[in-house]
Amino acid sequence: MADSPYPELKKSHVPERVGRPWSDHKPPPSAPVWAVISGLGSFHVLVAALELGVFDALTKRGANPGIPPQVTAAELASALEVSAPHLESLLDSLAVLNLLERVGGCYGLNDTAARYLTRDGAASMAALVPVAPGPLENWSDLANTIRSGRPAEPIERNPANFYRPLAEATFTTMLRAASRADLQVRYSAMAAPRVLDLGAGGAPWSIAMLKACRGATAVVNDLDEVIDVARRTTAEHCVADRCEFRQGDFHTIQIEPASYDIVVLGHVCRTEGPDGTQRLIARAWEALRPEGRLLLADYFVAPEPQWNPHSVQMAMTMMASTINGFGIGTGQVANWLREAGFQAIRLIEPIGNQYAYVSTKPATCTT
Ligand SMILES: C[S@@+](CC[C@H](N)C(=O)[O-])C[C@H]1O[C@@H](n2cnc3c(N)ncnc32)[C@H](O)[C@@H]1O
Repeated sequence: MADSPYPELKKSHVPERVGRPWSDHKPPPSAPVWAVISGLGSFHVLVAALELGVFDALTKRGANPGIPPQVTAAELASALEVSAPHLESLLDSLAVLNLLERVGGCYGLNDTAARYLTRDGAASMAALVPVAPGPLENWSDLANTIRSGRPAEPIERNPANFYRPLAEATFTTMLRAASRADLQVRYSAMAAPRVLDLGAGGAPWSIAMLKACRGATAVVNDLDEVIDVARRTTAEHCVADRCEFRQGDFHTIQIEPASYDIVVLGHVCRTEGPDGTQRLIARAWEALRPEGRLLLADYFVAPEPQWNPHSVQMAMTMMASTINGFGIGTGQVANWLREAGFQAIRLIEPIGNQYAYVSTKPATCTT
């Protein structure tokens, strides 16, 4: 007879059957604790590999089609001019982390490394890895942050230090998301939309919209010390002549009321926390024309946080390194949008794990 397709349901001593609080009869493995302990080392293994150029060196070796780009640790060490036994240890760690392939004592890129860890990878995260956790010293001081309710070195104290490299590093991924979002938001079908991009970073959303729609123009905002990232990226994508760069704090810069067709709040809300986010939603509302749309992208915490671990980790990063930043919940944001007056609220996922709320200011609205 065929086995049950759900063998786990045969177990009787499971929380689903006997309820919670639940404890197993046998002692649990220590693996989850070890996974956390190794997390610190794993992060630094990857940062070191990127700094040494391991992935790019392996790409170069694979440049000849048909020749497998597999090398020994000694060969790679000689190319990178580093200690061979030390490099071998690093390469083995990368292999067990599934970030390299190790076959018969030789190392090569696997698909993950080729796509995400080489500088020219199709979705390179090479620049993002070292900056994504924020200032590392804040992690060592996390217990104190939780005691006092404030990190010792909040990124707000020197925002350019954190945001400039972050804006550069996230640009490629966000541009992919913003370009794909056109399939659902259809900015390409608009005649001459006026876009307001608050906390634009490298302005991936503005760039995607301006490229999709020849008649579009954008007001691109970011902090004084960060705005030149957007000046450069918009120039590289040949849309700078349709941008007005309006530097300064997005809570206080001048914004013309009822003047924009699209307002973008792209990954700015989780550093703002609930109060700041609601103030930004209110600013967006005032800036939009009737029938204008707000696009609010972030890593939203799911109704049960464990459903989306990545958003919980991003929220944690905000808590560890910013004064006001906390995760913002999927339902919470929908409520704030509704309370502000927005309608037709929908959550889109233009590319995997990148989410955005799209909502509309109703036509009958006079403000
Ligand atoms: C995570 S990045 C997001 C960049 C871009 N919107 C995106 O979706 O990829 C956050 C950006 O908000 C900017 N920012 C943070 N606080 C700001 C403020 N008070 N006023 C204006 N910009 C701010 C940062 O400088 C940074 O470029």
